Formats: sequence, C-alpha cells, structure tokens
Amino acid sequence: MLKVEINGQQFEAEPGSTIIEVADSAGIYIPRFCYHEKLSVAANCRMCLVEVEKAPKPLPACATPVTDGMVVQTLSEIAKQAQEDTMEFLLINHPLDCPICDQGGECPLQDQAIGFGGSSSVFKEVKRSVDNVDLGPLITTEMTRCIHCTRCVRFGEEVAGVMELGAIGRGEDMKISTFLGTSMDSEVSGNVIDLCPVGALTSKPYRFTARTWELNGHKGISPHDCLGSNLEIQEIGGVVKRVLPRDNEAVNECWLSDRDRYSYESVNCNDRLTMPLVRRGENYQEIEWAEALDLVSSELGQIKETWSGEQIGAMVSPTSSLEEFFLLQKILRALGSSNVDHRLRQQDFRDDLAAPVCPGTEMPISKFQELDGVLIVGSNIRKELPLISLRLRRLAQQGGEIAVLNPMSFNHNFTTSQEVIVKPSMMAIVFASIARKVATATGKADLLPRRLVELATRHEFGTDVDAIADCLTGDDSDVLILLGQIAMNHPDASMLRQIASWMGENCGIRIALLPDANGVAGWVAGCVPHRLPGGRSNASPGLNSKKMIDERLKAYVLYGVEVSNDYADPVALDTALNEAEFVVSFSTFRSAVPMQADVVFPLAAFTEIDAGYINCEGVTQFASAAVKPMGQSRPGWKILRVLGNFLKLDGFDHVTSKDIITELEEVYDLSEPISVRYKPDLQAINHVFAQSAELKNGKQLDRIIDVPVYSVDPTVRRATALQSTKDADTVALLACVEELEEMGFKPGGRLAVHSKAGKVMLPVQPDDRVPRGAVYVPTGLSETSVLGSFPVVVVQVME
Ligand code: SF4
Ligand code: FES
Repeated sequence: MLKVEINGQQFEAEPGSTIIEVADSAGIYIPRFCYHEKLSVAANCRMCLVEVEKAPKPLPACATPVTDGMVVQTLSEIAKQAQEDTMEFLLINHPLDCPICDQGGECPLQDQAIGFGGSSSVFKEVKRSVDNVDLGPLITTEMTRCIHCTRCVRFGEEVAGVMELGAIGRGEDMKISTFLGTSMDSEVSGNVIDLCPVGALTSKPYRFTARTWELNGHKGISPHDCLGSNLEIQEIGGVVKRVLPRDNEAVNECWLSDRDRYSYESVNCNDRLTMPLVRRGENYQEIEWAEALDLVSSELGQIKETWSGEQIGAMVSPTSSLEEFFLLQKILRALGSSNVDHRLRQQDFRDDLAAPVCPGTEMPISKFQELDGVLIVGSNIRKELPLISLRLRRLAQQGGEIAVLNPMSFNHNFTTSQEVIVKPSMMAIVFASIARKVATATGKADLLPRRLVELATRHEFGTDVDAIADCLTGDDSDVLILLGQIAMNHPDASMLRQIASWMGENCGIRIALLPDANGVAGWVAGCVPHRLPGGRSNASPGLNSKKMIDERLKAYVLYGVEVSNDYADPVALDTALNEAEFVVSFSTFRSAVPMQADVVFPLAAFTEIDAGYINCEGVTQFASAAVKPMGQSRPGWKILRVLGNFLKLDGFDHVTSKDIITELEEVYDLSEPISVRYKPDLQAINHVFAQSAELKNGKQLDRIIDVPVYSVDPTVRRATALQSTKDADTVALLACVEELEEMGFKPGGRLAVHSKAGKVMLPVQPDDRVPRGAVYVPTGLSETSVLGSFPVVVVQVME
C-alpha cells in the first residue's frame, strides 16, 4: 500500500489508484464533470485540478495516479484558483439561465459553479449557440448547454456498446451529435440523462413537468424482467413524474434499462381502471367493491358447489408480486383447485416434476463479468435483460468468451467468440451435440444418457460446435450456460433444460435458467400447479396454463393478463373464455380486460403497491408504494385478502403485506440461496417439434418466437414514449433473402402466415440474420396474436 497525504490527512492507497479515487474513499470531495467511476478517464474538463507537492502546476485528480509519499492539497489557494479558472472557462459558452433549464436544481454545473466558481467572469464575448439534435422519443437535447465532458459518448462506446453519439469538430466548433442524424435507439439510452452533468440531455417525457426539489422519492423494484432493477420512483402530489436508477452494485449497478425508466408513463394514463365493473349484457357498469366481491365469491362458490373446485383455473401475470402470487394460489387451493399458473408463454411442461424450487441463476449476477466463458442458448439477451447484457459485454471486453446458440443472429452489444444459428427445431439437437462434446472433453462421456447421445447423433459435429465446447471446457475455467426466454418457452424447453442441468451436474458448468419477470416469486409462492408454497410437492397437482385452456374449465380468473398478448395461444384462450360460465379479470387497464369478463377488479399499478420481488439470483427485494392507487383501484393483495374473507376461507386475516411474507416464510426461507438445476430425467423426455399440415402453394417453416422488448407486459405496452421507439416498431415477418426468393416473394408483396390457430397478413422485411427454414414472427403483439405461439407456420405468397 502507498502512503498519501490529502489536505494534511494521511491515507493508504492501492498502487495504481488515482487521487480522486483515494479522495472519494476518504470522503474528501473534489469537483468533477468528465470523471465517472464506471467510465474511462478522459480528463478533458479539468475541473478536478488539485495542487500536488513538487508538481510544477495543478494536476487533474481523476487522471493522476498516487505515488508513495504524495502530498495533495484540494483546498489550497493554488487548487482553488485552478478550479475557479476552469469554471470560468466552462461557463464561457454555457447559458446562465438556470431558472429555465430542466436540469436546474440537480445540475452539477450549477452546484459546482456556486461551490467552486467565482462571482464574475472576464469573458464578455457573445456565447455560441448549438443546434439541437433529435434523439428520438426518450431524450431531449439542448446542445448549447453541453460542456463536452464526453460522458455520453464514452457511455455509448464503453458501456452500451452502441456508438450513437460522438464528438465532431474541434475547439469552439466541437459538438456532440449523432453521426448520421439518427435517433438514440439503444435499450439503455436513458442512462446518458443521468450521466450528463448539465441540462444538455434530459428526459423527454419528464421535461418541465416538475422541479427536483418538489419531488418525493420512493424505493421501487422493476417488475418487467427477472433482474429486479432498483428504482427511485419520484412523485409530486400522488402523480409519478419519473423513475431513476437506485444504485445497487449487485443488481443494476447505477444503470437502468429504458423499459424500467419509462414504463411509469402508463400508470398515469387515461386507460386506468378506477372502479370495479360488472358486465350487464354487452356493456360494463361500475359497481361498489362490496357488490363486486360478493358477486365473485358467490359465483366461484356456485361453480365449486355445482361442478367442483377443479373447474376453476387462474392464469397469473408473471409480473405479479410475491404477495399476490401467494394469496391467489391460497384462494384457489382453498376452493379445491391447484389450477394456477404464471408461466403463460411456456409451451412445454413435461419436466415439471423434475423441476427445482424455482428456475434462476446459480451464481450471483454481479459475478457474471468475472466468468471465463458463457454459452447463451435461446435468448435475445440484449433486449430480454439489457443490464445483464452490459455485464456480459464487460466479460467480453476483459477477454472472456461468449458463445451463442440461437435461432437467429440477434444484434448483440458484445463480441461473440462463436455463434451457431440454427432453425428452432434444430436447437435441442445442436445443444445435445455440444453436451456430448463437453462430456467427452471432461471425461464424462460414459455417463451420457442414451437419449442425449441419440439426439446428438442427429447432428454432424462441425467446427462451430467444437468451438463452443472448447469455450466451455478450458482448464479450471469458470463457465456458465444461460437459457433465456426463447429457450424456456421453446416447444422442446424440457429437453433444453435437461441438457443444461446434465452438464451442470456432471461437467462442472454453472447454469442459469432465466424465468419471465417475477417468475421466481411465482414458483416460490406456489403459483404453479404442481408445487405448493416453498416448492413443496403437491400430492394432487392441478392443470398448467396450457391444460387449463385445453380442458375448457367452467371458470377462469385472469390476474393481470391481457388475452391477446400475454398467453401463448390467445385464440384458444379466447375460445375457452367464451365457453366458460364465469370469468373474473383483475386488471390495471380498461383496454386489457377481455370482453368475456363477468366481473372486473381494478388493480393498482406497480408504483402503487408494497410488493415483494425475487430476482433470478434468488434475492428477495421489497418495493414500497410511491403513490396512492388511482381512483378505487386497490393493491392486488388487499383485493385477494378480502375476497378470501367473502369466500369465508380460513387464514385471510393479514393486516399488512408483511404478514403474507411472514406466512410464506413459515415454509420457505427467503434468504436461502436458490438451486436451479432440474433433476436429470432425460430418458422420460422425447425430442418433439410440432408439425403443421402442408398448405397448397405455401411453405412450411419453423417460427422464431420472441417477445419484443416493449411488448412484454400490459404496463410496458401502454408506455407512450417507449411505444414510439424503433424497438416498438417490430410487426413484420423477417426471413432471409434466399428463403424469400425461393418462395417467389417480390419486394413490395405480401405474405400470409398460417398457424394451427389462424392466419394473418404481415409486412415482410428481408433479413439475413434469420436462417434458412425459418421465419421470425414476434409474439406478445395484438397483430400476431391470431397465430398463437405455434412453432411451425405455413407462409404463402399473396398475388
Ligand atoms: S451532452 Fe452532456 S454528457 Fe454529453 S458531452 Fe455534453 S455535457 Fe457531457
Ligand atoms: S474530472 Fe478530472 S478532468 Fe474532468
């Protein structure tokens, strides 16, 4: 350790650390603009100049490594004068109109001008002005305010992996701009707003709607993916104004995905449900809570009496909270039904009995970037989990290898060492080939299950598979196989999970089976048909989300579910609801209510509830309500708790949401690390891939099914700014040029896409990222809902 003196105090410092790092850890503040601990050192603003003994002039603290015996003064006359001069220089061109700037009140330039600047300037020249750049629907620019710190540029280049902004021109003419006048389309673009130390980059939806000192902050957790990013939800007078990241190095660090940052917009929209509704003929009528609860309890009681509790099924949104999952399954089970499931897009449930307590990752997210290698199977990880993709990018930057087995070549923001792209029906076969190669390399070939060997022999080993296996088998290497949403919702998902678990069990590889949204909490709370809370086995398992629809039950509870977007086969769900005697919908939004709903309960939004979330690492995090529920909407757990009372069920006397957690903790320790491997049971699982009937004049193709980043749940789908981004503009069929030519498709033509569920005409975009034998048709969208999630489609060229 080195000995350093700062302002007369002695400190110890690691060799290689800079003055600003040592000062920060000692709590000594040095002003700065361009320096940020997550970015490289640019040392271009010069605001951090300090006096260093024996140095001929002040030195930038952010770029000066400490040496043994170094003596630093941050408050001496020389240091203060240097900082004051720099501030005067930075303000030459900066407008001095803080009262009309959106950044006013939270502006490092404003604060440091007061703390470290002088009271006047010798510069009398006319200030320059710079044209604004249109960066799209999320970020507003006022480039005259830019001080050229390049934080935004370095963020794109170093963290996000997308060079959207750059510095053009020199000296007086230097500008920050997009290169080709394009918008900022990265899924993490909003972070430049937090990084920008002035009002040059601000949030477009939030701009001029509040002043920072008026805002009240509340701790939130993002419900949109299984990372559970920590949010700072800011409101004034009960209206959410914006969402910022809350630092948590173990989860989201200091970043936020745009989905988590801007989804709050929908909680203030006009589409919110604010009263319980009852259907009278074709129309809905508002009713009082007591009447609605009475009606639902008597209808469910009636179904139970006339048929049996098993004729009731509950489909639950994976974005629900731990408390909601727990109480809903408790009601269903008390009524005699285990037909409760949150895995709405899953198609393959054959391995349920071999499942662990919950899926997830068997290593901390914060260690991902320290791995030697990762194999991603079935995931557009950059859009599915934008912040995990940033960690993988760091892994690649540090020399780690990332291999990919996917049904199409998604645009990653990291370098891959190997990418194998095969049509969806080949994924399990190629994965089995990789497993066989890994088993051979690790001396475990004789343990390979027969089924896996059979599957592997259907694919000829190529150098691509060898390269992936090599990435997973280096000496003492710490590697991870990560299965994303495309794999988890694949028709052969059981096989993929089994192969991953087998390698985890036998070849010393870590695995991550990533669930949808708050899915880990769904499993832990017993919101699956085959498990009770805490993962205990269920002697009389109920029906999973697919069977509940196949078997046409008498009553359905739709909890936060939007029929045309959230379920794998919307057409079948719609038919089942048509035939049901009673449907109750819990929904935050009026337009998400299915027309078959007999009674509708208005659910409070995620910003309005105290809620527990368990992320994919198994970490339980709690959000507190930032604002009161809109109108007469209520937190889901309160509605369920009172519904339990109306149904005269025992054990529904919780006073706070904490009481529900306490009850769950009687059977499950939420602080326990999770184990995510499935019990090896490969012999029981066949490789399946549904075939569709050949249609005359059409071509049968595998369908690549993926949910676009801004279509994942009802809240995100109603967030206006997000829906104006390029990523939301995804309703098209993608196929490679060769495939389209072979079908006789001409540019400007149309294609009809048929699945077992229905037919839709879609615009076409040639895209060579899609392999031969497959087409990309997204799901989670109303436009493609008629196709369901059938894995094979017939594509017809229309005249
Ligand atoms: S726009 Fe903001 S973050 Fe980017 S260089 Fe200018 S001042 Fe720095
Ligand atoms: S913070 Fe050190 S030069 Fe900008």
